[in-house]
Amino acid sequence: MEIDVNLETWKDVISNPSSYNFKFQGINIPSIIDEKYQIRYTGRKGQDNLDQAFNFYQYVCNEANISELNNPKVLDFGAGWGRVIRFFLRDTNEKNLYAMDVMKAAVDFMKETNFKGNIIKCNELPPVPVDLKGMDVIYALSVFSHLHESHFSAWMHYFKSILAPNGKLIFSSRGYPFLNYLSTVKKNNPKDQWPHFLEKMGDLEQVKKRYDNGEFIFYPSANGSDELKDSFFGETYIPRAYLEKELSKYGLKLLNETNSIKLFSQHVFTVTHSDEK
Ligand SMILES: C[S@@+](CC[C@H](N)C(=O)[O-])C[C@H]1O[C@@H](n2cnc3c(N)ncnc32)[C@H](O)[C@@H]1O
Repeated sequence: MEIDVNLETWKDVISNPSSYNFKFQGINIPSIIDEKYQIRYTGRKGQDNLDQAFNFYQYVCNEANISELNNPKVLDFGAGWGRVIRFFLRDTNEKNLYAMDVMKAAVDFMKETNFKGNIIKCNELPPVPVDLKGMDVIYALSVFSHLHESHFSAWMHYFKSILAPNGKLIFSSRGYPFLNYLSTVKKNNPKDQWPHFLEKMGDLEQVKKRYDNGEFIFYPSANGSDELKDSFFGETYIPRAYLEKELSKYGLKLLNETNSIKLFSQHVFTVTHSDEK
């Protein structure tokens, strides 16, 4: 179902679902998980966390021309507790929304919030136990900023196989904004505030050089948490030059990029089938 609501009101509905009795124009609005759990997924909580999700949602809608699509199928890969996918209840029937994550805890949270779209527990690598063919939009917010190249490769291959003709794949990764942030941390708080993976990264100027040379860069940082393992989960930097070179292997191509989504310090790429105009 598409509903008739302006974006400002919609942000309020999603941010304050209890004020609307978890219903708006006949659709179920999911609840919000406790802030102490939100922070585990994005380091953010409360309105700030939802504002970031909303800004990314708006960007995806524009990139995918979502208002032109009839009941689009949308997949959120690495959906966490479902903070982003819920915004798409405005644009399509809940049955066309798919939220997938490798972590059982994330999947359980999504169920607990009463999100009525499709909730899928996947493995760290495809295939997926459900037929997901014909996705008009696939997005991944802050997921390919963490995955090893082997996993990036396997998921790109899989997404190509389920992306509808003319479909858009939109994902984020780390780049200069985060590298610059790390340089500042290293300079100003050399002892006690270093993110735990910074030590592994060594000389950041060298990392920037590798990035500028189009290298896919990955540092493990999972710390043995739940299903996330050092073998595939860490801090990942994917440069544009890498994508320009590698995406054609999967029959995909780069359409657009930005690093200026408000409240979001990652680089965001839009990709489609290589034979689309
Ligand atoms: C930083 S969180 C972002 C969550 C969500 N996208 C958001 O923005 O709120 C990264 C998410 O990716 C999920 N993830 C990590 N590796 C994955 C994999 N191989 N397959 C699917 N999900 C994965 C994690 O479980 C986690 O929920």
